[in-house]
Amino acid sequence: MAQRTTRTKKKKPQAEFVPNIVAFACNWCSYAGADTAGVNRVQYSPNFRVIRTMCSGRVSPGFVLKALKLGADGVLVSGCHFGDCHYIFGNYKAVDQFEKTKALVKTLGLDEKRIRLEWVSAAEGARWGQVIDEFVEQITALGPSPLNHKQKAKK
Ligand code: FES
Repeated sequence: MAQRTTRTKKKKPQAEFVPNIVAFACNWCSYAGADTAGVNRVQYSPNFRVIRTMCSGRVSPGFVLKALKLGADGVLVSGCHFGDCHYIFGNYKAVDQFEKTKALVKTLGLDEKRIRLEWVSAAEGARWGQVIDEFVEQITALGPSPLNHKQKAKK
């Protein structure tokens, strides 16, 4: 009598999603805030790369879209609190640009939660860590960017 064997497919354990996050931080406040976090040994997620800009107002929609195109799952723009911008109205300009960026991100079919605008001063190291942790959590919940799936499929 032939013995019947049943094959059960073993499920491969899914690799844990680790989001790629790009953080544009203005030189005078948020970048210094990130530095303060380091000096004060604030514990927070390492899943991000900082790009220093002179002002949050310098971060045009093109910067954010390029970061998303090149594989970022989420993009943070961070600058000085209102009234503290070293270029007076740079962060007001950042708000306008961010709204335009949001509209473009939606047009691309991405969730607007993949981008975030925050104000962090040079003294707010703990806040910098908190903002990064919250954003990493938010992007982890959203999963990988659909743009990254399309890129991987092309390869
Ligand atoms: Fe920081 Fe303008 S210099 S937002």
